[in-house]
Amino acid sequence: MNDSTTGSNGGVDDGLRMEPEQMLELARRAAELVVQRIESLPGEGAWEGEFRLELEDQLLKDPPEDGRSASQVIEQAAHKILPIALSLDHPRCFGFIPSQPTWPGVLADFMVAGFNINQSSWLISSGPSQLELVVIDWFRRWLGCPESAGGLLTSGGSAANLDAFVAAREAANNPERTSVYMSDQSHSALVRAARIVGVRPECIRMIPTDEHFRMDMDALVETVAEDRAAGLSPIAVCANAGTSSSGAVDPLEAMADYCEAQNIWLHVDAAHGGFAIVAEEGKRLLRGIERADSIGMDAHKWFFQPYEVGGLMVKDVRTLERAFATKHDILQDTIWGAGHPNFSDRSLQLSRSVRALKIWMSVQTFGMAAFRRAVSNGMELAHRIEEYIEESPVLEMLTPAVLGIACFRVNPANTDLGEDVLEEINRTVLVRIFWEDRAFISSTLLHGTFALRMCVINYSTTWNDVRETLENISKFGAESLPQTD
Ligand SMILES: Cc1ncc(COP(=O)(O)O)c(C=O)c1O
Repeated sequence: MNDSTTGSNGGVDDGLRMEPEQMLELARRAAELVVQRIESLPGEGAWEGEFRLELEDQLLKDPPEDGRSASQVIEQAAHKILPIALSLDHPRCFGFIPSQPTWPGVLADFMVAGFNINQSSWLISSGPSQLELVVIDWFRRWLGCPESAGGLLTSGGSAANLDAFVAAREAANNPERTSVYMSDQSHSALVRAARIVGVRPECIRMIPTDEHFRMDMDALVETVAEDRAAGLSPIAVCANAGTSSSGAVDPLEAMADYCEAQNIWLHVDAAHGGFAIVAEEGKRLLRGIERADSIGMDAHKWFFQPYEVGGLMVKDVRTLERAFATKHDILQDTIWGAGHPNFSDRSLQLSRSVRALKIWMSVQTFGMAAFRRAVSNGMELAHRIEEYIEESPVLEMLTPAVLGIACFRVNPANTDLGEDVLEEINRTVLVRIFWEDRAFISSTLLHGTFALRMCVINYSTTWNDVRETLENISKFGAESLPQTD
């Protein structure tokens, strides 16, 4: 390390240590750069990207034998590396599933790294383990799950889905020829999780959906019956609590009734929609979720936390521990006994970070009323998009707005454009928003129909951000229509 501002402890002879003064100075600068970025975001484009050759030119270098100025390194990261990305927290980022972390959440991740906690076992980290129990119990009460339920915080929704399948397979006594069921709208993360737990690709059943993209119950019942007759062992039926395409919620009550009657594990993938439960509208939409055997949700989506944090809730937490707990001689001292869980017994990770702190610090700082308002705001904005589009002569809703997601397309009234032409027009609009607008939107396919999609769950997004983007979509759409002579 070679830094003129570092003082006497800054040379290579001092190894990897830094003096407190320098640590504080660097931390102040890093915090300043992050805050400046957040403040300047609204005036900038939501997307920045670069081709690999260009990036390699700047970054593909051998690690230096001697260090250089720590301030320079920080400035390079802040100006030349981190900004070359989609700003998912930009108030006009409506693509995929955007997310804006709270500042206490960001600071919590910094503090967790600084306090250097390994939250693998109660012995090694009892305070943070207790905090994870507290946060998981908040989730349990919001969801309305029984007291036997429990779980853990994961890296995200994919990990939560995977852990749920491991528990489901365990609950079914680890049968040989397994199958799982999910709708044709389910996230690819569920398919991947099923493959990882050893379900053969042809036994991952994608059940058709109705006109509102909800699981067709008749098709589910028929497929399970056929598979059982063919000797397969269904280990899980998966419901969506907010598909990532359109926000659709599967018929949770009917699926819970069916799974109870058939003794099949019901998993709900609530990675997108789960935290809507803290708001009244969400509670209504997700009725029945509390009956699931497992629920995966993502706090780095609609609970405004920095990546990575998801959560898994299992109706009987002992099933999760039966599936994951292992013994190792070197860890024999870490067993504290009843009531003192080692979170490494609930999932893949042994060494793990303290994910609960960011949630806890954010909720302590702002209070649940603020979270409720922020989550409701996302749903309200999506309903306003729907109202706007219903009035629009150029745009057409493709399915009702649900859980903060609106899917629509350019399709002017009183024209009779074929599907191919409409797709071409809408692709053009998407590209023009990408290159010519500050906003970022993405697209999806709804039963094969190309749809523009806006997800409006960022707490900083205003109606003005949404309206101006819709105006530009309409303008680009009108300009892309085939010319008539
Ligand atoms: C419905 C759904 N399930 C699962 C996932 C995967 O979650 P993660 O990206 O946190 O692993 C997502 C991510 O967008 C999702 O929307």
